Amino acid sequence: MGLLIRGGEIITADSRSRSDIFIEDEAINRIGPSLDAPPGTEVIDAMGKLVFPGFIDPHVHIHLPFMATFAKDTHANASVSALIGGTTTFIEMCCPSRHDDALEGYHTWKQKAEGNSACDYAFHMAVTRYDATTEAQLREIVRDGTASFKIFLAYKKFFGVTDEEMFHTLRLAASLGVITTAHCENAELIGQLQQLLLAEEKIGPEWHEPSRPESVEAEGTTRFATFIEQTRATGYVVHLSCAPALRAAVEAKSRGVNLYIESVLPHFLLDKTYAERNGVEGMKHVMSPPLRDRRNHAELWSSLNTGLIDTVGTDHCPFDTQQKLLGVNAFTQIPNGIPGIEDRVNLMYTYGVKRGRLDLHRFVDALSTRPAQIFGFFPRKGTIAVGSDADLVIYDTAYRGKISVATQHGINDYSGFEGFTIEGRPSVVTVRGKVQVRDGVFAGEQGRGRMLRREPQYGAHGVDHAH
Ligand code: URP
Ligand code: ZN
Ligand code: ZN
Repeated sequence: MGLLIRGGEIITADSRSRSDIFIEDEAINRIGPSLDAPPGTEVIDAMGKLVFPGFIDPHVHIHLPFMATFAKDTHANASVSALIGGTTTFIEMCCPSRHDDALEGYHTWKQKAEGNSACDYAFHMAVTRYDATTEAQLREIVRDGTASFKIFLAYKKFFGVTDEEMFHTLRLAASLGVITTAHCENAELIGQLQQLLLAEEKIGPEWHEPSRPESVEAEGTTRFATFIEQTRATGYVVHLSCAPALRAAVEAKSRGVNLYIESVLPHFLLDKTYAERNGVEGMKHVMSPPLRDRRNHAELWSSLNTGLIDTVGTDHCPFDTQQKLLGVNAFTQIPNGIPGIEDRVNLMYTYGVKRGRLDLHRFVDALSTRPAQIFGFFPRKGTIAVGSDADLVIYDTAYRGKISVATQHGINDYSGFEGFTIEGRPSVVTVRGKVQVRDGVFAGEQGRGRMLRREPQYGAHGVDHAH
């Protein structure tokens, strides 16, 4: 049965038009004014609403063994939260630790997701160790359609790679034409600063930010960019949080380094005073890189608006109150992460577009089109065009509400954005032509989501110094 979206205002990264959309066989079949539809077609009235391409979250954690515990979500509930918030595809970080076998880890993550996600998904494959087995394993993973890697410069001896391992990973990535995403903070400095602070009995969550200051992130960003440059790889800085790191990345970009920049929802809206709140309230806002001084916000917003920052993800990573309390005696033991998969679209729309900080088309670009282009889904995802998957968000700009743990769909017991007002929300969300959300309620099919397989798209241009 077909689906006709009638009379909405279609907004893409570079166009705006009032048109109907006819969907058949999971894809957009026709776009135009006053389309007719065969008998039996479901018609959805989108008059007065905006119609966006389904939003893509390029950075989430769902299954995550980390800091002596596991992130809280399942693929079933995280995908429903994503859809209710307008995200129709997410890319999950597949993160076996350096003590695990990478290929086994990859199969574990795939099995966790398969048949359980209500929206489409893909993976970034974390490379947390580089030894004699790594190249063959990564080649197999790329052949399976996972065409992006992740490295951590932080989290020494768990997820973190050495510079030598980073070099080998990037050389392989360049030769495979695969993009490498990176968490850029200097692990050694963090470890040393943590020990100094703990020795002075500075144990609360307010010391998390001073243990990994802005310059520590700027150093990691500079080093990653230099390694990208020397290996002629393509890089993507994840969750960039502050002006010094931004300047380091932009400087590298301007000298021709192949680098993309992602910032994530918490760094646009929250600041370090949230982690300075007493007790567990502060712990709820511990993530890495940390929430920063508020003075960084203006530069992040303006760089997002001009496109220097390419994408906005969430770094969704839910740990509940009990888990956060693992760090009651030392901030270094607080599981790092803040949930946000349900909130990114509504909050970026409200505090970006509605407040005049973010152009409406750039909003679509940064939250949908650029992630699709950078990670190899475009034009199947990330736009509204004939032949594209019918992943659509019919957006009600008249909606007014407040974010609250009481009404969110995740299984965590707090929201990082409690009390934030929102001015707009998705009223209907489709995944490949099937209505999955109606008026804030999941009304679709669990397990409908498919893993998206991608081809390497960055050419094989690595420098092979052996020849
Ligand atoms: O604090 C964070 N960001 N937790 C998730 C792991 C990571 O570094 O992305
Ligand atoms: Zn990270
Ligand atoms: Zn992350």
